[in-house]
Amino acid sequence: MNTMKRASGILSLLFVASALGSVVEDFEYLEVSDMCGLLPLGTNFLRPNTCDNWVSCASNLTVFEQGTCASGLYYNKTTGRCANAASVTCPYNDVATEPANVCANEIDGAFVMDPTSRTCRGYILCKNRKQIKANCPNELVFHPTSRSCVYQTQYTCPETQTKTASPTCRALTNGTRLAHPKQCVQYYECDDEILHERSCPAQMAYDSARGRCVDMDAAECYEGAVLPEPENTFCLNETGYARVGYFADEESCSQYYICAEPVANKHDTEPKHMSCPLGQYFDSEKLSCRDRMNVRCRLDRCIGTNMAYVNVDGNCQAYGRCSGGLTVSMGHCPSGYYFDERSQGCSQTNYHYIACSAQVSVPTEE
Ligand SMILES: *[C@@H]1O[C@H](CO)[C@@H](O)[C@H](O)[C@H]1NC(C)=O
Ligand SMILES: *[C@@H]1O[C@H](CO)[C@@H](O)[C@H](O)[C@H]1NC(C)=O
Ligand SMILES: *[C@@H]1O[C@H](CO)[C@@H](O)[C@H](O)[C@H]1NC(C)=O
Ligand SMILES: *[C@@H]1O[C@H](CO)[C@@H](O)[C@H](O)[C@H]1NC(C)=O
Repeated sequence: MNTMKRASGILSLLFVASALGSVVEDFEYLEVSDMCGLLPLGTNFLRPNTCDNWVSCASNLTVFEQGTCASGLYYNKTTGRCANAASVTCPYNDVATEPANVCANEIDGAFVMDPTSRTCRGYILCKNRKQIKANCPNELVFHPTSRSCVYQTQYTCPETQTKTASPTCRALTNGTRLAHPKQCVQYYECDDEILHERSCPAQMAYDSARGRCVDMDAAECYEGAVLPEPENTFCLNETGYARVGYFADEESCSQYYICAEPVANKHDTEPKHMSCPLGQYFDSEKLSCRDRMNVRCRLDRCIGTNMAYVNVDGNCQAYGRCSGGLTVSMGHCPSGYYFDERSQGCSQTNYHYIACSAQVSVPTEE
């Protein structure tokens, strides 16, 4: 998978924890170059905190361009053009002003709702017409008319308060998406100037340059954004149902897994991985570790052994030569001789080890 290198800048330092419990990243102080990194290629937007500056993110990652409307014109982010200032609503005109002093007409000791509190827990104590900010104790919210802290069942924090317009979304056209800097299966979307965190559908991830969810294998994630670890599906059978018990490791004959009972209809995603002692293989019929000569192993028998020569599955006259834990070449005993891993040589006795016999049911002659 390709990982497109896009500048992530100083983003992670600027994240602000939302008071709603979940962490909703706030893009308030993003640099224009950082914004272009998060936006789809070729996005145009109003430079934040201005009315007449625009930014055009490059369509090939190398440069972005900034411009200023001619005198008397404002930038209309929806049309992407500068127009007569009187015809354009500048989203930052009403923002820069300090919030009004809610204590201006209140008596000393009055409690008032804090209009900037996104959780409704905040209130303001008025003293000498000055504002002192405080929060209701945990679990309680400030009731604006009774002017006291109450249980959440007694007052529901209105959504207009919990979701305030995002300064970044003010600069962007409705519906613009931004990459999530940490999680590739997530992204942000500006919807009516409110920043929403969204998730891609299952098996899809957000492609930061294209600005949409695509198949996980094809996604070019924002630099630093990670894909979730693929889920361990060992404890699912071929038809997708949970299986429980002891199962051979399909990559090593000396190892096996233990799949626990499903929890809440979810198969065990962290099966225990166990190893047999040296010289033993896992036998799925006997659910045991036993002498590797008595277990059929369809994998390379040089794996996990320090022997120089090993028997070969399905041919008791053949042997494999091991090097670095893998079979590097094969050989054959002369006619009438059978290979014996235990003595590391060819012998006239055919022990019919299960390890080399084609049929598992052939008994050993010991
Ligand atoms: C990227 O776009 C700029 C401006 O359009 C252009 O000068 C530059 O050659 C382009 N770079 C690549 C790699 O296409
Ligand atoms: C941009 O222009 C369109 C069409 O003239 C207008 O409807 C819209 O209100 C303008 N947007 C802003 C933010 O002023
Ligand atoms: C913004 O987009 C949403 C969803 O597409 C739509 O419901 C809403 O009306 C749009 N708002 C404006 C101001 O165009
Ligand atoms: C998978 O498990 C289900 C439920 O136990 C069972 O009905 C099904 O036959 C199993 N499929 C295979 C291929 O073993």
